[in-house]
Amino acid sequence: MLILAIESSCDETAAAVTNGRHILSNIVATQIAEHRIYGGVVPEIASRRHTEAISQVCEQAVKEAGISYKDLDAVAVTFAPGLIGALLVGVNFAKGLAFSLGIPLIPVHHLRSHIAANYIENDSLNPEFLCLTVSGGNSLITKVADFTEFELLGGTKDDAAGECFDKTARALGLAYPGGVMLDKIATIPDFNKYPLPYPRLSGNELDFSFSGLKTAVINLIHNASQKKEEIDVPVLAATVRKRVCDMLIDNTFKAAEQFNYKTIALAGGVSANSELRNRFCEECKKRNIELFYPELKYCGDNAAMVGVQAFYEYKSGNIADSSLNALATLPIDYNRGEFYG
Ligand code: KG4
Repeated sequence: MLILAIESSCDETAAAVTNGRHILSNIVATQIAEHRIYGGVVPEIASRRHTEAISQVCEQAVKEAGISYKDLDAVAVTFAPGLIGALLVGVNFAKGLAFSLGIPLIPVHHLRSHIAANYIENDSLNPEFLCLTVSGGNSLITKVADFTEFELLGGTKDDAAGECFDKTARALGLAYPGGVMLDKIATIPDFNKYPLPYPRLSGNELDFSFSGLKTAVINLIHNASQKKEEIDVPVLAATVRKRVCDMLIDNTFKAAEQFNYKTIALAGGVSANSELRNRFCEECKKRNIELFYPELKYCGDNAAMVGVQAFYEYKSGNIADSSLNALATLPIDYNRGEFYG
């Protein structure tokens, strides 16, 4: 089944042609250089750049797949969650294309597609498994009961892990997207030099909180600057990275134990983090748990993962009519009847 998938939820305009789990083309036009000037994504600029790039990106995806538009069986699009203006560009373009070609329109939840990035190179991975999804806007632990059935076990009470990395990196003077730079320059952590909190939450023990850690790092940097003390950036970066990884790893293994999972997958932009991957590998080996994570090029936003998830959404009857709208927020276990026909 040939699907043209479109992704425009944040600052990448992406299109891919997929056939089941197989990727025929994968085009990403990133806006990072432009947003870097402002230290983060400017939503209106993102929407405008998507509008400019989307036709060309889709054309290139179709061309590189060696097909033409009339060979397509369906059009898929990320419709939630994300920046609303950015999502609307993709949704409207996909609607028009599906309508003009007379083929189905498949709406895809952004976080479901991040999880599906794991299916691309891992033929043996099938639900049921446990997944830690960590990106710029989300941090959650889910049961992936089936390709389109999810149960949220834990999520962030405030900031996402990626947000914590990006904001602390910005305070350290690192360029956007800070998480990537922070991971590159981090050396050896030192909690004696930089004592950072490990938040304890009441309620669900699988939930996360990153805002306290983010504030502690920003305060530490401001205090040092007022006292004209120099920050050891690589050491502080490593200390922050370790603390974020501690929280993500502790809760994921708590969930694995509680629900007796022997398969864990990682997903989302932050799953590219080197410490997170290495420590998950070590811990999973020790506990005899099978670990999956996407290839680096499929960790960040891309449309290949949208096409793969769309294949399963289509198989379970998730098809939208022309009233499909974009949504800035939507839980991963949403009930589709409430949002599209
Ligand atoms: O999944 P993604 O590309 O976009 C969203 O859907 O949010 O994730 C972007 C996030 C950013 O916060 C970025 O700093 C973070 O992923 N990220 C990393 C690394 N690579 C990307 N964070 C830590 N270490 C990395 N190597």
